[in-house]
Amino acid sequence: MTFTNPKHGGNLSEAIQVHGIPFEDWLDMSTGISPWGYPVPSFTEQLWSQLPPPTERLIHAAKTYYGVDDRFLAPTPGSQLAIRLLADQFECSSVAVPRIGYQEHAHAWRLAGHEVKFYNTIEQLLAYVSTNAVEHVVVINPNNPTGDIVGLAELQSVLDNTQGTLIVDEAFGDLFDDTSALNLPAEKTIVLKSIGKFFGLAGARVGFIIGNHNAAKRLANLFEPWSLSGPSIAVSTLALEDSNWQDSHRQSLKSQSEKFRNTLLRVSNSYDLEIKGNSHLFFTLFGMKKNVDRLHRDLVKVAIWTRRYNADDPEYWLRMSLPNNINEFNSRIDDIGH
Ligand SMILES: Cc1ncc(COP(=O)(O)O)c(C=O)c1O
Repeated sequence: MTFTNPKHGGNLSEAIQVHGIPFEDWLDMSTGISPWGYPVPSFTEQLWSQLPPPTERLIHAAKTYYGVDDRFLAPTPGSQLAIRLLADQFECSSVAVPRIGYQEHAHAWRLAGHEVKFYNTIEQLLAYVSTNAVEHVVVINPNNPTGDIVGLAELQSVLDNTQGTLIVDEAFGDLFDDTSALNLPAEKTIVLKSIGKFFGLAGARVGFIIGNHNAAKRLANLFEPWSLSGPSIAVSTLALEDSNWQDSHRQSLKSQSEKFRNTLLRVSNSYDLEIKGNSHLFFTLFGMKKNVDRLHRDLVKVAIWTRRYNADDPEYWLRMSLPNNINEFNSRIDDIGH
């Protein structure tokens, strides 16, 4: 069986081609990546010319940052490749995946031959696991694009009732330590992390797989040796060790996202849409298809690129990442004329 690859935001080249607006005119808000990334230093020529350095220092920095000294942790070349290859590490079985969520999970499990069952709510997920309707579970926390957050008590009940493994994608989880699945026992839990979103280093392609689980260890083996480039190891190590930058970035994201939410209220009111969730990195507006489509169309007119629902989603939504300049966003919204 063949499956079509999911679509994603960050597809500005498509927007340029379809709408004929040049690159420099766009305000790209189609991803959930922080627009204020970790300052990347210039690298020595050696870092490019030699094989990548050992990953011990990176692993130590990541263990300290995530607070998991006692757990297995391995770097992955982005969390996306970990998602794709993790499903291969399990015998063919069944898995529950959120109906609206990062599509690559369902895609990966299907490609690996598993049966995928979708859940719309955490109650439905709990019903699946307590009746053994699925073996494994994927939770995306916070969810992209809904921004929903599953609380720790609910995660614990899912884990208690799951026969197989609980996989929690925390690519957007850097500001949500309290609900992290890293607070749960490590044996049946695998947590995925990303350097792409909070640190704004999506181009470095670095993520982590965490959990004392054979599937995690098998996956980590696939990436040895040298699957992360020297510059990627170097920049992510610096970012993970830089707690001063992390603290001030965390504060700044919180205040910017609060400010942006207030701005967005006038958009959501004008288009009769509802703002849901708050990942501090993106907001998602939900409502009737015609309203979502009208907003998307109007935003394109003022060269703002956003991410819209997938064809088979049961609800209509439009996701916007934080703009790097809220005033610029506001003045473009004024140009729409609402
Ligand atoms: C929920 C979620 N998980 C994982 C990823 C993959 O991110 P990366 O491969 O950059 O770590 C994405 C990318 O958009 C995502 O939205």
